[in-house]
Amino acid sequence: MKILGISAHYHDSAAALVIDGVPVCAVQEERLSRSKGDATFPLAAIESCLGRADLGPDDLDAVVFYERPMLKFDRILTCALRAFPRSWRSFPKAMKNSLGEKVWMRGIISSHLGVHGRKILFTEHHQAHAAASFLTAPTRRAAILTADGVGEWATLAIGHGERPAGGITTIDILREIRFPHSLGMLYSTFTAYLGFAVNEGEYKVMGLASYGRPSMADKVRRVIRRTPDGAFTLDLDYFEFHTTAERSYSSRFVELFGPPRNPYEPIDLETAEGRRFADCAASVQRVLEDTLVDMARALRQETGLPDLCFGGGVALNGVANARILAESGFERVFVPPAPGDAGCALGCALYADRIHFGNPDREVPDHPFWGPAVNGRELAQVASEDGQPMGEIEDGVLIDQTADDLAAGLVVGWMDGAMEFGPRALGHRSILAAPHSAEMRDRLNRDIKYREQFRPFAPVVPIEMASRYFDLPPGGARLARFMSGVFPVKPEWRSRLAAVTHVDGTARVQTLEKGMAPRLYALLEAYGQRSGIPVLLNTSFNVAGEPLVNRAVEGYSTFRRCGIDVLVAGQTRVMKCALQQARLKEEAACSRNAAGSSAG
Ligand SMILES: [Fe+2]
Repeated sequence: MKILGISAHYHDSAAALVIDGVPVCAVQEERLSRSKGDATFPLAAIESCLGRADLGPDDLDAVVFYERPMLKFDRILTCALRAFPRSWRSFPKAMKNSLGEKVWMRGIISSHLGVHGRKILFTEHHQAHAAASFLTAPTRRAAILTADGVGEWATLAIGHGERPAGGITTIDILREIRFPHSLGMLYSTFTAYLGFAVNEGEYKVMGLASYGRPSMADKVRRVIRRTPDGAFTLDLDYFEFHTTAERSYSSRFVELFGPPRNPYEPIDLETAEGRRFADCAASVQRVLEDTLVDMARALRQETGLPDLCFGGGVALNGVANARILAESGFERVFVPPAPGDAGCALGCALYADRIHFGNPDREVPDHPFWGPAVNGRELAQVASEDGQPMGEIEDGVLIDQTADDLAAGLVVGWMDGAMEFGPRALGHRSILAAPHSAEMRDRLNRDIKYREQFRPFAPVVPIEMASRYFDLPPGGARLARFMSGVFPVKPEWRSRLAAVTHVDGTARVQTLEKGMAPRLYALLEAYGQRSGIPVLLNTSFNVAGEPLVNRAVEGYSTFRRCGIDVLVAGQTRVMKCALQQARLKEEAACSRNAAGSSAG
């Protein structure tokens, strides 16, 4: 059975193709259109998925959309009417947006793909999140928690799933919390207040939180109140996101927390104002963590299950994930590589396969590499046309040369095989560097990523070596498989892992199993032989404002525009011209010296 899943029209559109119960391809539209967070109907992603399997739309048995548009419209309409007359300005816009393209999804999909309307199915948004986290995890029974900004009405759902071998898969949602009461919207409101872009800058709030103290946590608890049944409500007097798209927080919110940050002013942590923003980030982070830990703990007690599958955009918060693992009582916490809305494209396709059609369970390969493959030949061609020194090199030599480059302090763009699905570079579209010095961190932030100084970088380490350098609790290595947890760097290693150790002594570590990315694993080993520490800095291969690179030519363009020294794609290696010449000069001088001394 061939099922195409689609997520679209909110942020980060994506498509995924599942054939006979197993994913074949999953890719975000932004990676192909090169427009970050592209929310348009994902035609390029669909084409890529179908092309991978050599299928046409007629060959599909079903096309599944990741939410129920009429329910979502119901929510938008209800909220707009409830807020009237305050919403009169935003009402026409909201209606135009909703009626324009979002409600008529069956017709839109049908007209884009030419498939019959009866082949088009819909899942609820949190069913898609739940499926993306549970049906891709190596567990047969698990509790499920999903949390995001909002889907149709639900913003958080709890339940459990079961997929007995040879039996019928079930995903039962037990309870949900509904809009406007939302952990995702709470965090996004603080993201906007702190001057970052919503749906983009949530990482920045988490990074900034490490520089502050949760001194305003009590104030945050005034805007989000816990209820006796273990859930929460937002005090809507502090918010405006439910009445207008223009502003997410109210004047009362500003009275409570002080003036918002001007997005164009840098955060100066030396000033009282800068520290207030850091404290504010730390406070909302603390309250988010506490709430999630409490809810997860109650779910553990209610289900008695040792495994938790956690999905939705809130599951991108690695600090909260690590606390859930440590404090909720779950032995293992599974967060998929794409827990956000893009991942729903895969989630809704798997949900339709297992639950709507009742197809038998299949193991889903436990990796994030579902995108298009890179072509090293393409890099060779574009580099030679551009006059850059390049070579096509046998793998063992290429790994050794790259390890030498990294040990010499060079920054390497690393493209290998199929692109990651989800926001994190996990070894196929990565920028790699030596993790040892703060200078390297500053250089990457300044010359390559063009981003704020407080943003930390992540380390990657062979899974067998992880506990030597990082304090991983039981289950921590699993959570770190897709960089979903933030854990302490062991104090004795912090000074030697300065580029990847955040100000609070933690790191968002990736623990790499050899089978998942064998070439990166070999590179870690080779680097370890040279430096004594088999850890590399691993950051996503893109510059600020751009999506992760996909094709070799995009990697090359990024390499030419920023401070990356060496680019590897497949078997092709390119070094910056000036660097190559300097190195050749150095080698020539060395051999002259050697010749001189042997002559002497
Ligand atoms: Fe979502």
